[in-house]
Amino acid sequence: MKLFSSVHDVTDIKQLVSSALALKASPYAHIDLGKNKTLGLVFMNPSLRTRLSTQKAALNLGMNVMVMNMDKEGWALETQDGVIMNGTTVEHIREAAAVMGEYCDILGLRSFPKLQNRDEDYNEEFFNKFVKFCGVPVVSLESATRHPLQSLADLVTIHETWDPYRIDAKAKPKVVLAWAPHIKPLPQAVPNSFAEWMSRAQAEGMLDFTIAQPEGFELEESFTSGAKISHNLDEAIADADYVYVKNWSSYKEYGKLLDFPEGWMMDNEKLKLTNNAKVMHCLPVRRDLELASEILDGPNSLVIHEAGNRLWSAQAVLKAMLETLT
Ligand code: CP
Repeated sequence: MKLFSSVHDVTDIKQLVSSALALKASPYAHIDLGKNKTLGLVFMNPSLRTRLSTQKAALNLGMNVMVMNMDKEGWALETQDGVIMNGTTVEHIREAAAVMGEYCDILGLRSFPKLQNRDEDYNEEFFNKFVKFCGVPVVSLESATRHPLQSLADLVTIHETWDPYRIDAKAKPKVVLAWAPHIKPLPQAVPNSFAEWMSRAQAEGMLDFTIAQPEGFELEESFTSGAKISHNLDEAIADADYVYVKNWSSYKEYGKLLDFPEGWMMDNEKLKLTNNAKVMHCLPVRRDLELASEILDGPNSLVIHEAGNRLWSAQAVLKAMLETLT
């Protein structure tokens, strides 16, 4: 694997999930694979889970790891071609990415959307230029439109916790992506990515997938093909086995903070409508705004388990990349 930026870069998602779970069982089984190889993690934005889990994943494979907080410690980057750089930008992405490629065998990049220009964000201009100019394999640590390491960890978590032998189990779990309230306009990267991965898993017979959001918060259609779409949370979560809670801002009214209706926060009352669903969230989560504390602190929450699986998902992806290097 030379690029991990979306589910479309993965030939066999079931095999990747199995690889992550095998690494969870034997974290150091491939400690020699990354010997004398260096991973560079470049952050244009903050992170807790992605930073620590990807570092640890690389260490488990015997890699050296360098982290660059480009937003705070690097030169201000120019991304446009043909501009005279007589403003605030100091270094062009052409040189910066190429130099990082000289030092690293694999690079990871986090670059959030600015939520100002939809075309610029959805064309993944920054991420794609970085990939083009660095010259080495790249793993997305969350781009403007996708967060594939998170989505892989989410699929691993569902696969790992679903018990098909439970007395009341269905043939396949019902998974619902449920929009949640927030006070800021957030990117669509996590829900876009989750929708893409779950749609693929649904197409491969692994689960049934529904998305619930208020009117006006529909995701861009190419990410949701195959999903059942609902504007009624209570109807959507009826009989759900997994509820994946996440806020996102409007794609249609891009970058704007829209008004939203009451009754979209998951709490124990809503949980009663489900099939005793496990509740997931990528974290960080704003308690009692996005998701009720009583769920986060209760037996149905999978959020810590899910964050733990970020490690094995990152390790499976880095392992697949290392195997193409050696
Ligand atoms: N879920 C996630 O990506 O967390 P961080 O932003 O802390 O890395």
